[in-house]
Amino acid sequence: MSTSPVKVAVTGAAGQIGYSLLFRIASGSLFGADTPVELRLLEITPALKALEGVVMELDDCAFPTLAGVEIGDDPTKIFDGVNFALLVGARPRGPGMERGDLLEANGGIFAPQGKALNEVAADDIRVTVTGNPANTNALIAMSNAPDIPSERFSALTRLDHNRAISQLAAKTGAAVTDITHMTIWGNHSATQYPDLFHALVKGQNAAELINDEDWLANTYIPTVAKRGAAIIDARGASSAASAASATIDHARTWAQGTPEGDWVSMSVRSDGSYGVPEGLISSFPVTVENGDWSIVQGLDINEFSRTRIDASVKELGDERDAVKGLGLI
Ligand code: NAD
Ligand code: LMR
Repeated sequence: MSTSPVKVAVTGAAGQIGYSLLFRIASGSLFGADTPVELRLLEITPALKALEGVVMELDDCAFPTLAGVEIGDDPTKIFDGVNFALLVGARPRGPGMERGDLLEANGGIFAPQGKALNEVAADDIRVTVTGNPANTNALIAMSNAPDIPSERFSALTRLDHNRAISQLAAKTGAAVTDITHMTIWGNHSATQYPDLFHALVKGQNAAELINDEDWLANTYIPTVAKRGAAIIDARGASSAASAASATIDHARTWAQGTPEGDWVSMSVRSDGSYGVPEGLISSFPVTVENGDWSIVQGLDINEFSRTRIDASVKELGDERDAVKGLGLI
């Protein structure tokens, strides 16, 4: 085992997602069995006692890869020297709410955290925002961290990506491993666009294979895009284990790269690709190599896709204007 641990910060560590996520990171799911990790766990003061209980459980697992745990409520202490920051801590929505309704409640969390990362994180810091509304919270954190390269900030649309793969596998009778080239475009919200015009099932174009635009428009897209709300209705609480698993998938891909010949969906800062205004944090098909992502270029966007990508990107622009109005960026 290499000697210097990777320092991973997790915010909202005493929450639901934290309760799944920490044990996966500590057991080596993120960086593998040969890389020790040190967990830096941030919470608000009233949640620190509960977090102490979670740390007792981490101790009790005796994970060989867990090199240390530090907890606290001060981001400048917890983020000191961290290599990865998984920003989960934020209020979840309840029934009947859209994620954008959380902007005012949660946006304020990400400006001070962005500033603290800017001040004390390691030079190779990579930041993933899971807390909702994830894309715009990532924009807030990025805008408050001018010394960190903007490509080091991302938001989670991997859960949507995984949902899109799972629903397509169920429809076609294929295994999830048969599905490649899935893309989620836009915002992690009900306007997101899961694209089957480039996805492949055993190498065959998914939209051509299914050949049913009505199913695509009226069943598949809303099922994927509204899955979060369906889980809230069923569970009485928002997705947690699947969100933690997707956060691991996202960070692991960022650290280790995409499989040869495939891509994943990540929300990253737009460079203007596919008509998405520069600067918005929007979901794209990306490949990752040596810790750096690149937006896949040159995909044909048909009319069906164009309308949906534009609608989701418009929502991201509206959210950006709202947080500008709140003085957060
Ligand atoms: P939760 O309420 O169980 O936990 C959130 C935790 O964050 C709480 O322990 C709270 O004390 C903590 N917190 C609040 N403000 C904080 C701050 N300033 N610093 C540090 N910690 C803080 O919620 P959860 O179910 O774990 O969900 C967390 C967030 O993730 C929510 O916003 C939810 O909507 C979002 N989420 C996103 C996705 C996605 O795919 N992007 C999926 C599921 C959930
Ligand atoms: C999800 O997609 O499950 C999360 O973003 C939680 C939510 O509010 O839907």
